[in-house]
Amino acid sequence: MKLTLSVIKADIGSLAGHSRVIKEQLDLASSILKENQSKGKLIDYYVTNCGDDLELIITHNKGENSEEIHGLAWNIFTEVTEKVSKKYKLYGAGQDLLSSAFSGNIKGMGPGVAEAEFEERISEPIAIFLADKTEPGAWNLPLYRIFADPFTTAGLIIDEKLHSGFTFRIMDVMEDQIIDLNAPEESYDILALIGTPSRYVIQSIYRRVDGLLSAVASTTRLSLIAGRYVGKDDPVCFIRAQHGLPAMGEILEPFAFPHLVAGWMRGSHHGPLMPVAQRDAHPTRFDGPPRVVGLGFQLSNGKLIGPADLFDDPAFDRARSLANEITDYMRRHGPFMPGRLGPEEMEYTTLPSVLKKLQGRFRPSNRKS
Ligand code: F6R
Ligand code: MG
Ligand code: MG
Repeated sequence: MKLTLSVIKADIGSLAGHSRVIKEQLDLASSILKENQSKGKLIDYYVTNCGDDLELIITHNKGENSEEIHGLAWNIFTEVTEKVSKKYKLYGAGQDLLSSAFSGNIKGMGPGVAEAEFEERISEPIAIFLADKTEPGAWNLPLYRIFADPFTTAGLIIDEKLHSGFTFRIMDVMEDQIIDLNAPEESYDILALIGTPSRYVIQSIYRRVDGLLSAVASTTRLSLIAGRYVGKDDPVCFIRAQHGLPAMGEILEPFAFPHLVAGWMRGSHHGPLMPVAQRDAHPTRFDGPPRVVGLGFQLSNGKLIGPADLFDDPAFDRARSLANEITDYMRRHGPFMPGRLGPEEMEYTTLPSVLKKLQGRFRPSNRKS
């Protein structure tokens, strides 16, 4: 059976700053989706949040970029903004809705989207990752390790379906271009690009033996749409697991290392990506640290069976503890790089308007060169 999985998210206001979505927001989004499900417009849905982002997970058979499904998501975000976020004066009400009206496709209008149409396999285990206080390039390191690093994914060596490798579709978010590169032969080229996660972002991954779609990530950069800082584009992605694809445990393995990502306070700092259970998905310290939730589902004729709260496991306690240690260490840098992001990334924050004030006060140094 062919089905489409759409993971669509937006920050449309949250409690006590940029910390968490409230129950009324989740409830209203669920009730609108339920009503549409009963009318047969979608197969199934799951509504949740990671920090201040409202996350809609929807299965349907309308294909990718469906005006109907994207329009539905847009209406949910605007209705929740109007009826809940604004009613309670939640912080940043409607923040990610950068357009005043829906124009057919939600991509490029503010919300983040990871979406794909595929044939549901005999058994279809899937992992959906939701992150807060970081950017789409945060997936580059774990995705590379899952699909190209045999020290992470034993199946790359052992299982012949994985053995011929994967194709990485990488987007240059500055130039709006994509390139397909094959691992393992071109892994150094892949790394040459994705080691710059602010610019080169893995968009999707395909199994080379048959082209099977294996992973999809959101690639929105809000600042590039709006031309100014409008919060980080907290990313989502999903990965299909097992039976000739990386096993669920191989998919989770890279998250045991809380790597440094860009985001955190004012979208302007480096911090560790902490894997957390759903109940802990609400950034606090220095508006963070950045965090990721993993939800495991079985798709069953499009129904979302689950979720399994994948990081709700003592096996990730050490990663969390390390993330806390890194948090202490990074915070001690205060406003200094590399605690704070470099000048290129700061272009999209509120820093340039602060620096502008100093422009007229610079004078020649009279240094004899
Ligand atoms: C990070 C984020 C927050 C805010 C910070 C300041 O993505 O959204 O860290 O940048 O709380 O917010 P304002 O300027 O709205 O007071
Ligand atoms: Mg926010
Ligand atoms: Mg957020």
